[in-house]
Amino acid sequence: MRIAKILGLLVALVGLMVVGGFVFILTSYPDVAPAPQIDVARTPAQIERGQYLAEQVTVCQTCHTPRDYSMFAGPIKQDRLGAGGERWDQSMGLPGVLYADNITPAALGEWTDGEILRAFTSGVSRDGTALFPLMPYHAYGRMDVADAEAIVAYLRQIPAIEHDVPDRSLDPPLNLVVRLMPQQADPQPVPSTSDELTYGEYVTTIAACSACHTPLTTDGQPVVEMGYAGGHEYPLPTGGIVRAANITPHEASGIGSWSREQFIARFRAMNGARESVAPGAFNTVMPWTDYGKMTEQDLGAIYTYLMSLPAIDHFVVRFTPGI
Ligand code: HEC
Ligand code: HEC
Repeated sequence: MRIAKILGLLVALVGLMVVGGFVFILTSYPDVAPAPQIDVARTPAQIERGQYLAEQVTVCQTCHTPRDYSMFAGPIKQDRLGAGGERWDQSMGLPGVLYADNITPAALGEWTDGEILRAFTSGVSRDGTALFPLMPYHAYGRMDVADAEAIVAYLRQIPAIEHDVPDRSLDPPLNLVVRLMPQQADPQPVPSTSDELTYGEYVTTIAACSACHTPLTTDGQPVVEMGYAGGHEYPLPTGGIVRAANITPHEASGIGSWSREQFIARFRAMNGARESVAPGAFNTVMPWTDYGKMTEQDLGAIYTYLMSLPAIDHFVVRFTPGI
């Protein structure tokens, strides 16, 4: 009798803690400051810098524009720039269904500059919804404020495209846990280009190379000791599975034997290229056509940074054809 009473109390206590934790997460998270009150000037220089970043470096438009996978590396459909609609789901190991939102002025017209900036640097939408970090906002949170503002200036003047994107649906418990993921942006100034290693780290970070090239645990956390060693699998719309390459300086399984010139040439080769791909043939999610237009300085700095990383011996089979 006494034991049953104690057990009953314990169950009630655990229940209370669960409910308490639930309420705490619902009321206290996402734990991110209100959107900053800013007024982005939108000068031509700012728009030019923003376009370069959003289209070639931080590749916002690679995700927020439908891609044409009948062509190698899925170049974006230029006439749908920013209209959104790309879908990620359980077939890619995601616990839910996500859609890239429409980020043209047709969708963001009512948003303040600060609300747009907070969404991609801290992971909180205009209405306070916690965004899922498939969009690499933890990396963007380290962007120089001037660079983030340049992206806002650019987004304000791309053509408005009316396009309703479906709402996401996250499987439990992710629908609750996602609230813990946004993080207050921690911007850092753009390092001087004369310090190529530090500058290269900055460009590599905001280009979010790690988002694909660092393997993830089953609950979606990057495996830090496997930084840039590749292996993450992507099923392709044209059939087969492509895996992120090992881009650490390991001689045999990474890119350690590549010269700086070879590295830059590999990107340049895909600069805006449009080669059609037969169903089931080698294709990739790596946005070569967008990154391929990065400046020589930025690609070279990325190379210098990657070469400074620990060489990890991890052999990756880059492609398995579909059946
Ligand atoms: C890897 C793909 C990816 C990249 C790269 C990416 N996004 Fe996103 N973005 C998404 C997804 C997916 C969502 C929706 C997330 C969700 O619903 O939880 C999103 C949401 C947003 C939102 C919120 C829209 C809303 O209605 O809530 C904004 C604004 C945004 N992105 C802007 C950007 C900008 C600017 C960049 C570049 C600096 C960028 N995105 C890069 C995939 C991406
Ligand atoms: C959307 C996911 C994605 C992003 C983002 C991405 N990559 Fe990749 N990358 C891949 C995949 C998948 C492959 C393997 C298939 C291929 O070669 O295209 C690859 C291949 C490569 C290769 C070729 C390696 C080899 O052995 O041939 C290099 C170099 C590379 N990536 C560098 C980068 C750099 C640098 C960045 C950031 C500027 C980056 N990647 C961002 C997915 C990505």
